[in-house]
Amino acid sequence: MDIKQIYVDALTPIVGEHLSKEEITKLIEIPNNTEHGDLAFPAFALARVFRKAPQQIASDIAEQISMENFESVEAVGPYINVFLKRENVANELVTQVLNEGEDYGDLNIGHGEAMTIDMSSPNIAKPMSMGHLRSTVIGNSIANLAEKTGYNPIRINHLGDWGTQFGKLIVAYEKWGDEEQVRKDPINELVKLYVEFHERAEENPELEDEARAVFKRLEDGDQEMIELWTWFKDESLKEFQKVYDMLNIEFDSYNGEAFYNDKMQAVIDELESKNITKIDQGATIVDLEEENLPPALIKKSDGATLYVTRDLAAAIYRYNTYNFAKNVYVVGNEQSVHFKQLKAVLNKLGYEWYKDMTHVPFGLITLNGKKLSTRKGKIVLLEQVLNDAIALATEQINEKNPDLANKEEVAHQVGVGAVVFHDLKTDRMNNFDFNLKDIVQFEGETGPYVQYTYARSMSMIRKYDKEISKDTTVNLNDAFSWEVIKKIADYSRILENAIERFEPSLVAKYVIQLAQQFNKYYANVRILNDDDQLKARMALVKAVTIVIKDALKLLGVEAPEEM
Ligand code: ARG
Repeated sequence: MDIKQIYVDALTPIVGEHLSKEEITKLIEIPNNTEHGDLAFPAFALARVFRKAPQQIASDIAEQISMENFESVEAVGPYINVFLKRENVANELVTQVLNEGEDYGDLNIGHGEAMTIDMSSPNIAKPMSMGHLRSTVIGNSIANLAEKTGYNPIRINHLGDWGTQFGKLIVAYEKWGDEEQVRKDPINELVKLYVEFHERAEENPELEDEARAVFKRLEDGDQEMIELWTWFKDESLKEFQKVYDMLNIEFDSYNGEAFYNDKMQAVIDELESKNITKIDQGATIVDLEEENLPPALIKKSDGATLYVTRDLAAAIYRYNTYNFAKNVYVVGNEQSVHFKQLKAVLNKLGYEWYKDMTHVPFGLITLNGKKLSTRKGKIVLLEQVLNDAIALATEQINEKNPDLANKEEVAHQVGVGAVVFHDLKTDRMNNFDFNLKDIVQFEGETGPYVQYTYARSMSMIRKYDKEISKDTTVNLNDAFSWEVIKKIADYSRILENAIERFEPSLVAKYVIQLAQQFNKYYANVRILNDDDQLKARMALVKAVTIVIKDALKLLGVEAPEEM
């Protein structure tokens, strides 16, 4: 149910000659101050057509509006403010939510078409960083939103399992590595070797040449190199899997960069046959001067391919395999030039679908002021962060609800949920620092606050201990329930914006506001009081639990029933 639509339908017979339904919808405002009505229409938008003072137009229109769905209609200056018949809206909306359950809010913007989402994509032989956490949780939430809005989401983990860094790693391992050590503690040992390589290479630049030569051998399929690489990769995947399990996130594909090794020659041939490439100091490049971009480096002078070459092969493969309507890359903002180059080259190749590719960038986050850099060896291990959050959640639960039955499970849901929610609640482009103590809190604009609101509503439903009929008459008209009802009615509009802008933060902000409005209701109205509106209030509580749970699910955050 869409509240705006009620007003659009009422205005259309009066101004429909001059404004389309879409235009009317866009013009209608939701006043911040509730005294200015539930909805307001700016009559000055029609000043040109009617050639009258906006105040006059406002009062003329106000007189003609059918009162069927409105409590009152007021022309105030150039605005026509309307107050809806709360009981009608409450009843229709809550009935709808209870009947549709978790389908409430569903849209069909995607018409079942595929949306490929390149997400997480950590690099082998390195720990997963907070940056990869961002890509994982933002990507997962976009995928959930895509499904909710009618797309078929395909989660792709484009693993960084290829490239010159593997040359470096193999050189370091062969020179200074110890097999047993690596077997015992793979990621840490490999990172140490990688760090050591960079330290030594500062003194001895020849190491870089060695690394390039080794990577070339890997690309050419040298057995010994492949064995080492496979070993590093398997160990890394085991580590990544631990984090994915904690987050409860699955992928449809783990085709990383190496997967495209045998698909790149075809791309290079195509680029050459279409005369798009140039040779520059022995390297093959695509000049992008006209596009105001640095040239895309396709092949080095030694024949080794590059990141962009693999992404070209990957994009073409994805198009041919999934026939995507949208191909989304959830990757840090520092790679925005890379994705511009990628699209520019595909455009030159004549692939119209390059327009359906979107880089969804995000800012940097730091933990307690610490930046993440594997090269210098300052690492914040994601698994550690999540475990710390779980420990903090356990403390909170021990304090607030020591007798909780499934404490460990709930602490996991709350701790991990807090980190995920915090990551998603700020506009994705913002850089921010965070501190675990502040976010694993049951108060404030946190994940646990929303989860706690959900658990509290569920406990009310348990206490009520009666069937909540889907067809309850919801004759509520007080100011507190009205705010909750308007929020619930806004759900699918938020989802539409969120998927269009690839911005899960809109959903996170929305669910915080819904929880806040509901808590105000709870503080001001005795919900469980045994009077003739009890059933109606409980139906509203039930509707709130449905929407909170669904919104949290879209964010990838669980909703414990008790905490
Ligand atoms: N592995 C890369 C990194 O950690 C991200 C890959 C993003 N996806 C892509 N198709 N380029 O920086």
